[in-house]
Amino acid sequence: MRCLIVSDLHYALPQFDWLLQAAPRYDLVVLAGDALDVGSLVDFRAQTLVVRKYLQRISSLTRLLVCSGNHDLDAQSETGEKIARWIEDVRRLGIACDGDSVLIGDTLFTICPWWDGPKVRDQLLVQLEADSKKRDGKRWVWIHHAPPRGSAISWSGSRTMGDADVDQWIRTYKPDLVFAGHIHQSPFVKDGSWVDRVASTWVFNTGHQFGAPPAHIVMNTKEDEAIWISAMGVQSVKLQQPLERPVQDLHEMPIWFDAPAA
Ligand SMILES: [Fe+2]
Repeated sequence: MRCLIVSDLHYALPQFDWLLQAAPRYDLVVLAGDALDVGSLVDFRAQTLVVRKYLQRISSLTRLLVCSGNHDLDAQSETGEKIARWIEDVRRLGIACDGDSVLIGDTLFTICPWWDGPKVRDQLLVQLEADSKKRDGKRWVWIHHAPPRGSAISWSGSRTMGDADVDQWIRTYKPDLVFAGHIHQSPFVKDGSWVDRVASTWVFNTGHQFGAPPAHIVMNTKEDEAIWISAMGVQSVKLQQPLERPVQDLHEMPIWFDAPAA
C-alpha cells in the first residue's frame, strides 16, 4: 500500500489543490489534522464548506482518512469541551475520520480526535483500548495530530512541545506507527526531525511549509519505507532498520515511488 501523509494545511488552498492532483497516485491519503485555520480571515463556516468539498473530491479518487487538529475546533460540546463538529459532516460523506478505526489490508488505522478535555480524551482511550484488542498481528497505525512529548518530532528548536499523554499511550499500547503534525517547525530545526522512534514505535510529523506542495510523507507499507519530501530536500527511512541520525538524504527515488497506482 502506497500512502500519502499530509498535515497542517491550515486552509492553504494551493496545498489542497496539490493534494487533489496527487491523490489518484496513492492507495490512501492521510490528513493528520489542522485542515482549517482559526487565524484565517475567511469565516470558519466558509472554510468548513470549502474544505469539505475538497475532501469529498479527494475521497472520490482514493481512500481518505482525516483527523482533527487544534485548528479544526468549531464548536463546544455540552460539557464545554471544544470539538470539531464539522467533522461529522465529513463522516456523512463516507470519509473515515475522528473516532473511526479502519482495517485496510493488513493495517489497522485508529483515527484520533483532537481532545480538549476529559470527555473526548476518555472516548479516545476507550477507542485505543478496543483497537489494541483488534490488532492481532496486524500493523497498527494511529493518526493523532499532537506528537508525543520528548521526541525530535515535537522539538520546537528550544523545547519539547509534544503531548505527554500521547508519549505514555504509545509506550503502553506500542502501535507500529503514529502519524502526527502540530509542531510545524520540528522537521526544520536543529535537533528536530520528521521521524523518530518512541520505544519500538515509529512516529512522524510532516511539518508545515508555505505554498504547494505541502511538506509530505510517502510511505510504502510493502517496502517498509517512508520518504519525507519538503523544501529542505528528500529523506528516507527503512522501517525494518534502526533509525540513524542524521537521517540520510535520498538522491534517487525508489522504483516504487513512480510506479502507477495499484
Ligand atoms: Fe497546525
